[in-house]
Amino acid sequence: MKLEGRTVVLGVTGGIAAYKAPEVVRALKAAGARVRVVLTAAAREFTTPLALQAVSGEPVGTDLFDLTQESQIGHVALADEADAVLIAPATANLVAKAARGIADDLLTTVLLATRAPVVLAPAMNVHMLQNPAVQENLRALGSRGFRVVEPDVGVLACGYEGRGRMPDPPVLVEEVKAALAPDDLSGERVLVTAGPTREFLDPVRFLSNRSSGKMGFEIARAARRRGAEVVLVAGPTALDAPRGVRTVDVVSADEMAAAVRANLADCTVVVAAAAVADWRPVARAGTKPAKTRGPSAIEVESTVDVLGTLVRPRPDTIVVGFAAETHDVDEHARGKLVRKDLDFVVANDVTAPGAGFDVDTNVVSILDGAGAERLPLLPKEEVAEAILDRVVRLRASGLQRT
Ligand code: CTP
Repeated sequence: MKLEGRTVVLGVTGGIAAYKAPEVVRALKAAGARVRVVLTAAAREFTTPLALQAVSGEPVGTDLFDLTQESQIGHVALADEADAVLIAPATANLVAKAARGIADDLLTTVLLATRAPVVLAPAMNVHMLQNPAVQENLRALGSRGFRVVEPDVGVLACGYEGRGRMPDPPVLVEEVKAALAPDDLSGERVLVTAGPTREFLDPVRFLSNRSSGKMGFEIARAARRRGAEVVLVAGPTALDAPRGVRTVDVVSADEMAAAVRANLADCTVVVAAAAVADWRPVARAGTKPAKTRGPSAIEVESTVDVLGTLVRPRPDTIVVGFAAETHDVDEHARGKLVRKDLDFVVANDVTAPGAGFDVDTNVVSILDGAGAERLPLLPKEEVAEAILDRVVRLRASGLQRT
C-alpha cells in the first residue's frame, strides 16, 4: 500500500526518541506521503524545526499563537489537511492531554480538530509506561479509536531496560498504512505459509531453496492491515515477524504441515506462499560426519505436500496457492490449480528479471478457472494487495463451494 497523495501530520513531543523524527519523516516520504511536522516546545529540546523542514520539504509547525504560522498554517487547516496523524514519540504528558481533550499548544489543538485517524507511538521510561495513570489514558484513547502502537522492549535512554522504546520508523509507517487501509478483510481469519523449509542431513547440513519469505510476509502484513486476523506459519527467514500477526516458526516441511493443521480451524482464507523443500534425506545422521566420511550420494524422499493435503476447514474457505516455475508457467500453474483444488493460483516465472526469490519485486499472473490476469512488475507489497483484492472480490461474489 502506497501513501502517495496522502498527507500525514507527524506530531513530535519531547521525549528522547524525538531525535529520530527526521528518520520517521524520511520513511513516510519514502512510502509516498507528504509530511507536515508539528513540534511541541519540549520536542525542540531534542530536534530542530530546521532539520525537520529540510527533510520534509514543508514548513514545520511549532507555535499556536505565532501570527505568521497561524496565517500560513492554521491549526484547523492542518487538522483538515491530514489524512492521518502520527504522534511519535508520544510522551506521558501528551497522552494525558489527549485523553482529557486538553488543547494548549499547536499539536494538541490539531489533535482535537482533526477527523483523521490518529496513530500514537508512546515512548518513555518503563515505569512511567507502567504507571496506572498512563495505562488508563492509553486505554481510553484506544477505546476512542486511536491506534496505540506498543513500544518496543530494550535499553532505554534513562538506563533502564524494559518496554518503552519507540519502534523503528518502518513499524510506524506500517501502522499509518494500517490506519488508512480499507477494512475489507475484517472478520476473515487468514493463514499464510511463507519462506523455505530445511530438511536436515545431519545437525548442521540441510537441503533447502532460495526463498526469502518476503512474498508471504507481505501477504500476512497486508491482510492484517485490511482488518483480518492473521496466522503466519514461517520457515527460517531473516525477516522480522510482522506486528499484529501471530507468527509460528517452523523449520521442516513436516513441522510446517503440523503447524498448518494446528492453526487451520475456522480459517476463512489460506494463502500458501511457502517454498516447501520438495525432498528430504531418507536418513538423518545424529552427529556431523567429517567431509572425508560424507556420503557419495544422498538418497531422498518426497516431503509432505502441505497445500495438496490441506482439508478445507469450512466450505467457504478460499484457498490460494503459488506456482514457482521456470518454463511453461501457465500450463504448470493450471495443473496445480486443479490438482491442489485451489480457488486461484499465483504463478510466477522465477527466472524473469525482478521476479522470484530474494528480491522486493515480483511479476505474477493470477489464474483461475476463468482465465489469467497478468500483473506488471510490482513491489511484493503491491502483489500482496492484488492477491487480497482478488480474495475480497471472490468473497463478494458469494461463491459457495459444495
Ligand atoms: N506446496 C506445499 N507443500 C509442498 C510443495 C508445495 O504446500 N511440499 C505449495 C506451495 O506453497 C505453493 C504450491 O504448493 O503454494 C505449489 O508449489 P510449487 O513448489 O510451485 O509446486 P510443487 O507442488 O512443489 O510442484 P513442482 O515442484 O513439481 O513444480
